[in-house]
Amino acid sequence: MNRARDALTWLPSESGGPAWFPRVDRFRIDDVEFHCSFEQGSEPNRFYIRKHRPLVEDYLAVFDRFQAANVVELGIMEGGSVALAALAARPRKMVAFELEPERVEALDALIAGHRLDQTVRPYYGVDQSDRGRAWVRSSLMSSATRSSTWSSTTPRIALSQRGLRLRRCFRGCATAAST
Ligand SMILES: C[S@@+](CC[C@H](N)C(=O)[O-])C[C@H]1O[C@@H](n2cnc3c(N)ncnc32)[C@H](O)[C@@H]1O
Repeated sequence: MNRARDALTWLPSESGGPAWFPRVDRFRIDDVEFHCSFEQGSEPNRFYIRKHRPLVEDYLAVFDRFQAANVVELGIMEGGSVALAALAARPRKMVAFELEPERVEALDALIAGHRLDQTVRPYYGVDQSDRGRAWVRSSLMSSATRSSTWSSTTPRIALSQRGLRLRRCFRGCATAAST
C-alpha cells in the first residue's frame, strides 16, 4: 500500500521566517517543492503551505486513513495543502473552498499540468458557511455516486468548518477538513 507520507522527500530546513514561524520546513514531491511558510507567491513548481512539518504529517495521515477518499478542503490561501493532497494522496475527488475571490494561478497550472482537473476542483469567493453556495453535492458527491464527470447543478448541502460535522453531512464518504 502506498502511503501519502512516503511521497515526500524532506529537504533541509531554512531559517528566516517570522518570529512566530521561524523555521521553514521544506519538502518536495517529484519536481514540485513545498515551503512550510507564510510567504506569498506560489509557483507551479514551488508552493507555500501554511502548515509546518508535524501538521503536514498529520494532514497526510488523514489521507492514509481514508484511502481514495472524497475530500473537502476549507481554505486554499497559497494552494499548498491542495497541491500536496493532489500530488501525494491522490484523493478520489477533492473540492476546496476559499473565501478570497482571486484564483491561485499556480494551483490551476499544477492541476492542468498533472491532468487532475477531473479530480481536484478549487472554488474561490465561496464562504464555507454559505449554505446557498455550498457546491459540494453537485461537484463532489454527485460525481462520486452517480456519474464519472463533474456536475454543474446547484448544490444544496451546507458546509461546516468542523470535520465531524462534514462527516455527518456526507454520510458514506470519507471527508477531511483543513484550514
Ligand atoms: C490557514 S489558511 C489555509 C491554508 C491552506 N489550507 C494551507 O494549508 O496551505 C486559511 C484560509 O481560509 C480562508 N478562509 C477564512 N474564512 C473562510 C470562509 N468563511 N470560507 C472560506 N474560506 C475561508 C482564508 O482566506 C485563508 O486563505
